[in-house]
Amino acid sequence: MLKGKKVLLGITGSIAAYKSAYLVRLLVRAGAEVKVVMTDAAAGFIGPLTLSTLSRNEVLTRISSDDTWANHVMLGRWADVMVVAPLSCNTLAKMAHGICDNLLQAVYLSATCPVVVAPAMDEDMWKHPSTQNNLQLISSFGNNIISVNEGELASGLFGPGRMAEPEEIVEWLTTWFEKKNDFSGKTVLITAGPTYEKIDPVRFIGNRSSGKMGIAIASAFLERGARVQLILGPSSQPVPAGIRTIKVESAREMYEAALTAFEEADIAVLCAAVADYSIAAPASEKLKKENGAPQILLTPTRDILKSLGEKKSGNQLLVGFALETHNEEQNALKKLKDKRADLLVLNSLQEEGAGFGYNTNKITIFDRKGGVTRFEKRPKKEVANDILNTILKFSDA
Ligand code: CTP
Repeated sequence: MLKGKKVLLGITGSIAAYKSAYLVRLLVRAGAEVKVVMTDAAAGFIGPLTLSTLSRNEVLTRISSDDTWANHVMLGRWADVMVVAPLSCNTLAKMAHGICDNLLQAVYLSATCPVVVAPAMDEDMWKHPSTQNNLQLISSFGNNIISVNEGELASGLFGPGRMAEPEEIVEWLTTWFEKKNDFSGKTVLITAGPTYEKIDPVRFIGNRSSGKMGIAIASAFLERGARVQLILGPSSQPVPAGIRTIKVESAREMYEAALTAFEEADIAVLCAAVADYSIAAPASEKLKKENGAPQILLTPTRDILKSLGEKKSGNQLLVGFALETHNEEQNALKKLKDKRADLLVLNSLQEEGAGFGYNTNKITIFDRKGGVTRFEKRPKKEVANDILNTILKFSDA
């Protein structure tokens, strides 16, 4: 499946760079065309001559040499995918913060193709909060991360931080290319994040949803070829370029935007934690303490999922979510039926590391034909792809 694919391989300064030679060889053997860009630090671990021989292409290290300028913009446009393997801690930090002090960074920052990274570092560096934050940042920009392996590290210690093996990277790319366009031609509507219901000009009632899960789902659809319309409640999470986003605040605004967008949608995934009640009469001026505790009258909001379930035509597919703390399956199945969804994704607040704010989630998906699929706890990006795979399976059944 890599036949004819153009792979731009970025190599950075890590001992795992010695494996890049084998990676290039495997890629070329699988039929890919490979060009290599490496940092000066990488050239300390493996010689450019080895890589140019194996890739059958010139290896680039500098923005300019001998008065010739390396066209970093065209390199990113040439490639079907840019793979940075190994990704050192230093280059990760530069990618996260947009630093452009070498050719590899210039290529990365101007790349219009998808980017995949395979980190490699010692366990303590891997576990450092700055490394984990930087990984989250580059993932939020839409970059793909191939997980590190656990095992013997250059320090002699055992733990997480080993770069994925070249065979695993090639397999990852093969699977990724296969599934890459499986939603092409589809228009997808996603609601995500919390809603805020105004009490007065400075106060609101909200909830703890971060929007991370919905944005991960929107990103997965985009990567797999769909046209994505995201309706996002108040959230500080970055949204990758290419996702059409309407920012809303209240449940009412989300309802109106979703109803309009649904007319064009083939698939709708309603991930937002929508307020069930809004304030009947929000104050137009700030409520003052001296007037005593306010009596706030609440009024029910419209249920977006239920409304779309009532409007849904035969070829539209509707996916709902349920966040439950008790009687989880029973409540989820009731929501699936009452709201006329095709699939319902249950996430439990009882599960450590799952739900609001976390980067991981553990889900079970129920479908209206009685099917149940249970998944292990995984990063939200992988959970997003599990949901997309289940949608495909359900529509093909
Ligand atoms: N939902 C919606 N509009 C609402 C409330 C919920 O679209 N006004 C959607 C959510 O996006 C989710 C599903 O309905 O896909 C279930 O939401 P949840 O909050 O778990 O359930 P509720 O129906 O609000 O019921 P309860 O709060 O009693 O559990």
